[in-house]
Amino acid sequence: MKGKGLENVVAAETAVSMVDGEKGRLVYRGLPAADIALESSFEEAAYLLLEGEKPDEQQLQAFTESLKKKRKLPEHIHKMIEQFPDDLEMMSVLEAAVAALAEKAPLEEPLRDQAERLIAVLPVIIASRHRQLQRKEMVQADAGLSHTANYLYMLHGQKPEEVETRALEAYLILTMEHGMNASTFTSRVIASTESDFFSAAAGAIGALKGPLHGGAPGGVINMLEAIGQKENAEAWLRAKIVAGERLMGFGHRVYKTTDPRAEALKKICESIAGKNDWLDTAYHVEEKAVQLLQEYKPGRELYTNVEFYAAAVLKAVELPANLFTPTFALSRSVGWSAHIAEQRKDNRIIRPQSVYIGK
Ligand code: CMC
Repeated sequence: MKGKGLENVVAAETAVSMVDGEKGRLVYRGLPAADIALESSFEEAAYLLLEGEKPDEQQLQAFTESLKKKRKLPEHIHKMIEQFPDDLEMMSVLEAAVAALAEKAPLEEPLRDQAERLIAVLPVIIASRHRQLQRKEMVQADAGLSHTANYLYMLHGQKPEEVETRALEAYLILTMEHGMNASTFTSRVIASTESDFFSAAAGAIGALKGPLHGGAPGGVINMLEAIGQKENAEAWLRAKIVAGERLMGFGHRVYKTTDPRAEALKKICESIAGKNDWLDTAYHVEEKAVQLLQEYKPGRELYTNVEFYAAAVLKAVELPANLFTPTFALSRSVGWSAHIAEQRKDNRIIRPQSVYIGK
């Protein structure tokens, strides 16, 4: 079918971000995302995406304080998390908990406040569930810490080093927003029905969970662990491609060159980890994978995507693999919020057609 997977179909006009797949450029509200990731805090970048302009000092302080105030986990969410069985995946926990954040008459609370509640509380939900599974006491948020530092603090129970916070912050900023990706499209479809904000966000979490979208970085770690040493890389990768399997961390619907987020994250990896064996293996695997994909899939233009080096950064800040996709959800919640607001502003229900091929 022509246009399968809605490839190249324009589904909305947006002023939130521009993804240029040919040139490998990503722009947030007119500014290169890679520059923002290197120069700004999570709070500044989130404000920019939500408001369309960089905050001045006063606006930034007010926004930061507002996020801090909204960090408290509602009691019913806390109880809900405690009730879930241990084997329920973190992304499913997030999906259910986020849907249950709609308790406050969602159509009466300003959309912007709902967005801040979502962004503020996602790290708390992830950290409390993580600590619960480890049979450890929940760590209360520390009002003296930034959004990113506080996330690491609530997970690990100790204050992070500045260099770790910066690395994670750069990752979070680079993955905050990315045009009409599957989860953002999902959130806009749900918002277009005039359903509530948290249903749109919960639906987006469901879409992000899949390995073809946000669920890949765990797969990258598994791949690197299975390869183990540089010498094994070529044979291992070749066997996977010949068997028709997809290499996690490669290929993209829009980028027909290296994903600019992967390039920025690669630099960040070098700054935190220096040269170590693990990174050395990752570089080698990347080089071989791109070569082999060119050999076996000529003309498909399969290059490294954001997930490949995201895995390396998240591993460096000691996040276990089961928290990779939830951490992606934490950052992408900003993009979803900006898109839901945009959809609501000039709404028409999203309702495409299908071609009947049945009996
Ligand atoms: N490894 C091997 N072959 C691949 C890969 C890969 N990673 N990606 C695409 N191909 C092949 C695919 O088999 C197909 O070959 P053929 O023409 O012989 O049938 C061709 O390339 C085109 O693939 P497609 O499925 O039509 O491409 P798509 O645009 O629908 O898929 C993708 C994009 C990201 C889902 C896909 O590249 C993929 O599955 N990658 C691996 C998973 C991954 O890394 N996901 C994270 C994406 S980045 C995060 C985000 O922005 O959401």
